[in-house]
Amino acid sequence: MSKSYDVVVIGAGPAGYIAAIRAAQQGLSVACIDEWKNKDGKNAFGGTCLNAGCIPSKALLESSELYHRAQHEFKKHGISTGDLGIDIAAMQKRRAGIVRQLTGGIAGLFKANKVEGLVGHGKLLAGRKVEFTPVEGDVEIIEARNVVLGSGSTPIELSVAPYDGDKIIDSWDALELDAVPATLGVIGAGVIGLELGSVWARLGAKVTIIEAMDDFLFMADRDVSAVAAKEFKKQGLDIKLGAKMTAAATTGSGVKVDYEDGNGAQSIEVDKLIVAVGRRPFTDGLLADDSGIQLDERGFIVVDDECRTAVKGVYAVGDCVRGPMLAHKGSEEGVMAADLIAGEISEVNYDVIPSVLYTAPEIAWVGKTEEEIKASGRAYKTGSFPFAANGRAKALEQTSGMVKVIAAEDDDEILGVHIVGPMAGELIAEAVLAMEFSASTEDLQRTIHAHPSLAEAIHEAALAADKRALNYPN
Ligand code: FAD
Ligand code: NAI
Repeated sequence: MSKSYDVVVIGAGPAGYIAAIRAAQQGLSVACIDEWKNKDGKNAFGGTCLNAGCIPSKALLESSELYHRAQHEFKKHGISTGDLGIDIAAMQKRRAGIVRQLTGGIAGLFKANKVEGLVGHGKLLAGRKVEFTPVEGDVEIIEARNVVLGSGSTPIELSVAPYDGDKIIDSWDALELDAVPATLGVIGAGVIGLELGSVWARLGAKVTIIEAMDDFLFMADRDVSAVAAKEFKKQGLDIKLGAKMTAAATTGSGVKVDYEDGNGAQSIEVDKLIVAVGRRPFTDGLLADDSGIQLDERGFIVVDDECRTAVKGVYAVGDCVRGPMLAHKGSEEGVMAADLIAGEISEVNYDVIPSVLYTAPEIAWVGKTEEEIKASGRAYKTGSFPFAANGRAKALEQTSGMVKVIAAEDDDEILGVHIVGPMAGELIAEAVLAMEFSASTEDLQRTIHAHPSLAEAIHEAALAADKRALNYPN
C-alpha cells in the first residue's frame, strides 16, 4: 500500500522546511522530500540558504571583516598584534562547521516535530500524487492531500561565460575557494557580487566588478547607494558601471574578460571570475507533464497572493515563485501555506519585506525608496541621522552611513526606512515592526531607545522628519 500524508513538501530550503514544520505543528501528518547534495557528496537539508547561500556567506563575511579590522582598526584602539595572518583552511573549516551544525539542526527539528524527512527526488504527478525516488531504494508513489512545492532557485548561467567550476565559477564555488586569488573578477554588482567581492577583497584579492546598469545598487534608495558606493571604493572594490561583458575565455593562468563600457571595448585578466547576475527558479524534473502546474515566461511557478497554484491543494513557496528571492520571504510563505492548509486565515505582508546586504557598512531597507514615493505623487517628508553623530557608532569605530526615514506628509505613516551603517541588518527589524503596525514617525519619536545604542539613530531620524532631531542640527 502506498504511503499517504496530509502534506508532502518538496524541497527543504527555508521555504519548504518551515512549511513542513508549521504543518506538523498544526497536527497534520507531513513528509518533506529533499535531494540537496553537498560537495563532500553528503545529503543535507536546508537548501541553498544553509548550504550554499545565506549562512556560509555570512560566516566568511564575519571572518574576513575581523581580519580587515585587525589590520586597519586595531591600532587606533591601541592594540598591537604582531604579524597578522589568515589561515584560509581554518576559516573554511569554521564555515563548513557552522553549515553542518545548522543543517543537522533541521534533521533534529524534523524529528522533534514528527516531520518525515525523505532524502531523494520528488516529482509532482497528476491528482496530488508525488513520485519519490530515494537516494537508495525503490521509487515510491506517495499520496498527498496537499502538496507544497519549495524547489528554490539556481544561479543564472551566461552563454558568454559558462561555468567550468574552476576559473569561471558560481556563488557556491566562490564560497568554497581554498586560496585567495590574487585577482578576482565578478560579473554583477548585485547582492552576491558585493558580499562575495567584499569577502575576497578583504582577504587580499584585487577585485574588479563589472555591472551592466549605469546606476549603482539601482534597487536601493539613492542616498544609501551614494554612501555605499563611496565606502566600497575606499575599500578598494573597483566597480565598473554601465559595463556589459561580451566574452570570457579561460587562459592557461586565468580568465580573460572582455566588456564594453562608455569608453568602448575593454579587457581584463583575472585569476578567477565569479558570475553573479541573478538566480532563476529551479523546477527541473519537478513536474510531470500532466501535473497541471503552470510556469510563467521566466520559469516561476504561477501562484496567487496566497501561494496557491492552479491545482487545488497544491501550493508553491519561496524562490520558485514571484517576489524577492530571500530566505525570510520564503519562510513566511511556508508558514502561510501551512496555516491555509490547516484551515486558518493567513497572509504575507509583501509590502514590508526587509532587504539586507551584509557588506561593511551593512545596507538595509524596508518599504519604498524616496524615488518610488516621489513617482507615486504622494506628499512625503524625510528625516536622516548620520552615524557620525551617534555615540555607540563612534565607540565601535564605525561612523560611516546614516538612517533615513520617509513618512507621509498627511498622516505621518512611515513609508520607508533606509539604513547604511553598522549593524543595519539588525537595526532594520525595528523599522519592519513599526511598519507592520502602520506606525507613524511620532510613534518612533515617542519610543524610548537605550543610550548609547545604534538604534538611537533611528529615533533621531524619526525626530528629524519633523525637524526635531535633538543631537544633530535640523
Ligand atoms: P532553496 O533554499 O533553494 O531550497 C530548495 C531545496 O529544494 C534545495 O535543497 C533543493 O535541492 C531542493 N529541491 C529542488 N527540487 C527538488 C526536487 N524535485 N526533489 C527534491 N528536492 C528538490 N537570502 C537571504 O534572505 N539572506 C541572505 O543573506 C542570503 N544570502 C545568500 C547568499 C548567497 C551566496 C545565495 C546564493 C543566496 C542567498 N540568499 C539570501 C537567498 C536565499 O538563499 C534564498 O532566497 C533561499 O534559499 C530560498 O529558499 P527556498 O526554500 O525557496 O529554496
Ligand atoms: P542580483 O539580482 O542581486 O544582482 C545581479 C546583478 O547583475 C544586477 O546588478 C544586474 O544588473 C547585473 N547583471 C545582470 N546581467 C549582467 C551582465 N550580463 N553583465 C553585467 N552585469 C549584469 O543577483 P545576485 O547577486 O546573483 O543574487 C541572486 C539573489 O540571491 C538575489 O536576488 C538575492 O535575492 C539573493 N541574495 C540575497 C542576499 C541577501 O539577502 N543578503 C545575499 C546574496 C544573494
